[in-house]
Amino acid sequence: MLAVVKSLALAGLEAQPVQVEVDVSPGLPCFDLVGLPDAAVRESKERVRTAIKNAGFDFPAKRITVNLAPAVLKKEGPGFDLPIAVGILASTGQLQGERWQQCFFAGELSLNGDIRSIPGVLSMAWSLKNMEEAGDHWLVVPEGNGFEAGLVAGIQAVPVKSLQDLVAFLQGERHIEPVAVDLEKIVRTVPVESTLDFSRVRGQHAAKRALEIAAAGGHNVLLMGPPGSGKTMLARSLISILPPLEPDEILAVSRIYSVAGLLTREQPLVLQRPFRAPHHTASTASIIGGGKNPKPGEISLATYGVLFLDEMMEFRKDVLEALRQPLEDRQVTVTRVQASYVYPADFMLVATSNPCPCGFLGDPEHQCTCTPYQVQKYRHKLSGPLLDRIDLQIEVPRLTLAELQQEEGGEASARIRQRVTEARRRQLRRLKRFGLYCNAQIPGNLMPQLCPVEPAGLKLLASAFAKLGFSMRAYDRIIKIARTIADLEGSDRITDLHIAEALQYRFLDRAYA
Ligand SMILES: Nc1ncnc2c1ncn2[C@@H]1O[C@H](COP(=O)(O)OP(=O)(O)OP(=O)(O)O)[C@@H](O)[C@H]1O
Ligand SMILES: [Mg+2]
Ligand SMILES: [Zn+2]
Repeated sequence: MLAVVKSLALAGLEAQPVQVEVDVSPGLPCFDLVGLPDAAVRESKERVRTAIKNAGFDFPAKRITVNLAPAVLKKEGPGFDLPIAVGILASTGQLQGERWQQCFFAGELSLNGDIRSIPGVLSMAWSLKNMEEAGDHWLVVPEGNGFEAGLVAGIQAVPVKSLQDLVAFLQGERHIEPVAVDLEKIVRTVPVESTLDFSRVRGQHAAKRALEIAAAGGHNVLLMGPPGSGKTMLARSLISILPPLEPDEILAVSRIYSVAGLLTREQPLVLQRPFRAPHHTASTASIIGGGKNPKPGEISLATYGVLFLDEMMEFRKDVLEALRQPLEDRQVTVTRVQASYVYPADFMLVATSNPCPCGFLGDPEHQCTCTPYQVQKYRHKLSGPLLDRIDLQIEVPRLTLAELQQEEGGEASARIRQRVTEARRRQLRRLKRFGLYCNAQIPGNLMPQLCPVEPAGLKLLASAFAKLGFSMRAYDRIIKIARTIADLEGSDRITDLHIAEALQYRFLDRAYA
């Protein structure tokens, strides 16, 4: 007898419906699985066989054929265990009633019949919400994934613990309450998690101001200075002044973590802005995404948060080059044999660097020991096109010992964060109808409409470009920084003063021009 069971397959961040056709007919016992399964799906046969037996059901000594349709779609991971098991139980008369036909199933079976969590359930729930079936179907998921499925309003997510549990539910013998999570309520109670506070950073007023602008508009930053000047400390403090995530941002970021398999029972949701600090030895695949079983990389995991590249010059040149496209597009296309997926990569880049290999170039108290050729080679790594995309370039001079000992720390992060949050609210009022959250995200075609510059500002820009030879790519970026400076000030207009401050933050472009 043939049973057709509904399931979902992940394709990037989206999920698509899959029909799991299970046919059990007389003949020599065998178990075939077709329809473009990957290795984990093929192993499903052994898990399903053992789980069915150990859960107290009969595994038929017959000819079993399972087809995952449509065949063109690559099927990955262990999530098809559950629909396959349901299909076998239904086609052998071990599952009574019709309810199973009103469900989508996704979950991994363990050998004793328990149901294990799988990656990507939030994406599945999200995609199902937009399908016709969402209204009159249940989404049956592992209990460990219940929370993430319950975040999506408009679907009925049923969490199940074991195969016995599931059969009891499907036969109407046990009631399982669909999970519904009140995201708004959770968001209201999120505490700020931060280890470093700006009040502990002495001096460095220019760098702090620039980081406040970066946080307010979501702009990219490079901190350049000699060893021990506090670059790493400043960058790591940034997280303490970033505004809280918006509820929509929480769901969008959590979907990425769900697909990457990083949501856990303890942390079922991403509530804090991500701060990703990959090591400089990291591979292109781990930073950009991809690999044999493509997964979102660090740039996607940093979405709506920070990608921190400490000692940026130490990173491999091909990694730095690969960042250029995502920095422009705010998404990344990961290509593989069967398909290519688009993942968001909407992050703030925060990088640090020494000015030269020895670190002391331009330091009044230390002699730089590098040859001009060494300095040139070092800086060449920060090629023009990458530098263009770094909106705020800041020099972080070393504090003198006296300064370090005397000067009190400055304003506390909580107060700076208030200003940043207020500036983001202003932006959101302007940007929300375009699906944007902050100035850095504004695409080129919306610039004239969203960031008109007053005549005096335009004049200043023109003369700065003529004198300093910025690239055209820098043009819009400078205006966006000016927009954020105006937002911090509570101004709707972009004046020449805002442009003048924005121009100051491109010191490297000038130094290397
Ligand atoms: N402005 C500052 N205020 C308070 N402490 C500071 C400041 N600058 C540096 N320090 C102290 O010096 C230590 C080193 O700073 P940090 O590691 O941030 O320097 P760095 O610029 O990243 O140096 P490197 O180039 O060697 O990585 C910090 O842990 C901190 O204790
Ligand atoms: Mg450092
Ligand atoms: Zn040097």
